[in-house]
Amino acid sequence: MSNLLKLFILFLLVPLHLSAQDLTQLGGDLTTTITGHNGLQVAAPNVDDEIRRIKQLEGFQDFHRIHTKKSGLGVKVEGKKGRRFAHKGCAGCHVQNGKGRVRLTRGQKRKDGMVVKVSLRGLQDSGAPINVPGIGEQLQRHNTNRNIKKKHRLRLRWTSAGLKGTYPDGTKYRLRRPLLTFRIKGYARSEIISSLRMTPGLNGLGLLEAIPEHVILSWSDPEDSNNDGISGVPQYTPDRVNGGLGLGRFGFKASNPTLAQQTGAASFFDMGVTNPLFTVEGEEIETSEENFEKLVIYQALAGVPIARNQDNLKVIRGKELFQTLGCDDCHKMTVTTEDSENPELDGQTIHPFTDLLMHDMGDGLADERAEFSASGREWKTTPLWGIGFFETVSHVKQNYLHDGRARTIEEAILWHGGEAEAAQDAFKNLSKADRKALIKFLKSL
Ligand code: HEC
Ligand code: HEC
Repeated sequence: MSNLLKLFILFLLVPLHLSAQDLTQLGGDLTTTITGHNGLQVAAPNVDDEIRRIKQLEGFQDFHRIHTKKSGLGVKVEGKKGRRFAHKGCAGCHVQNGKGRVRLTRGQKRKDGMVVKVSLRGLQDSGAPINVPGIGEQLQRHNTNRNIKKKHRLRLRWTSAGLKGTYPDGTKYRLRRPLLTFRIKGYARSEIISSLRMTPGLNGLGLLEAIPEHVILSWSDPEDSNNDGISGVPQYTPDRVNGGLGLGRFGFKASNPTLAQQTGAASFFDMGVTNPLFTVEGEEIETSEENFEKLVIYQALAGVPIARNQDNLKVIRGKELFQTLGCDDCHKMTVTTEDSENPELDGQTIHPFTDLLMHDMGDGLADERAEFSASGREWKTTPLWGIGFFETVSHVKQNYLHDGRARTIEEAILWHGGEAEAAQDAFKNLSKADRKALIKFLKSL
């Protein structure tokens, strides 16, 4: 066989081999075929145990309830200082477990899911950001004590200045970035660093927790020894459940190592509710161990919506491009889980499209706020499963990236810089039809 012929056969085979993998069962045995409004909430089909099914259901109820004195779910504190919060319930931001709306309004209405994290310059010894005295972790609009007025003025606008571009094929695009203004009494603006965050959709969280640490570390290449321009480093943060440091998995900077800790932090910082993991000295714990466990189980054992249209030729083409462009160098397509505590989560072959590592995404996406070992330029690879499904559940306009600046999936890709610059460049050089196919593939997830 001539070399040329060999090359030709290789050329034919490689893409076929790449695209051959069937991704339909995104969450392994946790995959559900429930396609409507409740698609991210019901227990996965493999939760056989009656007691765990009931806990999952009760956790579902708590996630959707409002935390007030009356509901019995906490917020009993109205004391002198009160406690700040953004919403009274998880579902106020994570609408039906999907994304929140990218909007900052005066009253912060239901579905408005933006958070502005603020801190002073520098880091604590633990690596945690330094809270602004009297403000806390983030700018909050509400207080359990209604007499306490907020101490900041907050405004969000968007600009497209300097953000217009043209694809090599002549198609034009225009991006936007946020312009956030606020003032905190007693501080010069230059003393405060801030980071705007949108509310992400919640999907397959128990499975993400069950990805073996050694596998995640095997994907990490801090010195970029294979010279592909992609390093990827793990984030280690104080682990309130197991003690010591834990591999961060949750949040845009993977600041929380366990789903329980993420849930505790959300209850405390977003809702002002104490819980077994986040307490206030001398005050009663508002969420009981039992209710807290249910809230975690609810999220861990919720089903993962099935991928759609996997036989569509454009979707197949898009899947192939996702791999040839190197998107899967970070958005890892397939991994097998290990979990000794939750039989449902153990040994599942899943397609989360993340490596859970931190990547330098370039100046464009950077802000100044470091969290633990992650700098302002580094972000966790966002899992892409559910990306085409979140809209179905929440009925809010879908936005992308940590601050919701991207109005389309295409814009999200165009913002990729730093370690992802080459992949972004390769995307720009595709034909229009191929760019569409790639996006169609992502929407099928
Ligand atoms: C004020 C809006 C708001 C409320 C209320 C809220 N969250 Fe979140 N949630 C967010 C934002 C914003 C993030 C991203 C945080 C970050 O890393 O910056 C997030 C992240 C998360 C994550 C991590 C997801 C991932 O893929 O890494 C989980 C899990 C989560 N929230 C669960 C909860 C639970 C449970 C509750 C209720 C106890 C809750 N949230 C309440 C806004 C909210
Ligand atoms: C170097 C690692 C890396 C590579 C390569 C990469 N990504 Fe990403 N991707 C990320 C990180 C990190 C984020 C989160 C950035 C943020 O939120 O600011 C992200 C976010 C996204 C999002 C937004 C998801 C959401 O819901 O907000 C999409 C879509 C996406 N990537 C698609 C792609 C595609 C398509 C490719 C290939 C052309 C690609 N990525 C290549 C690391 C990477």
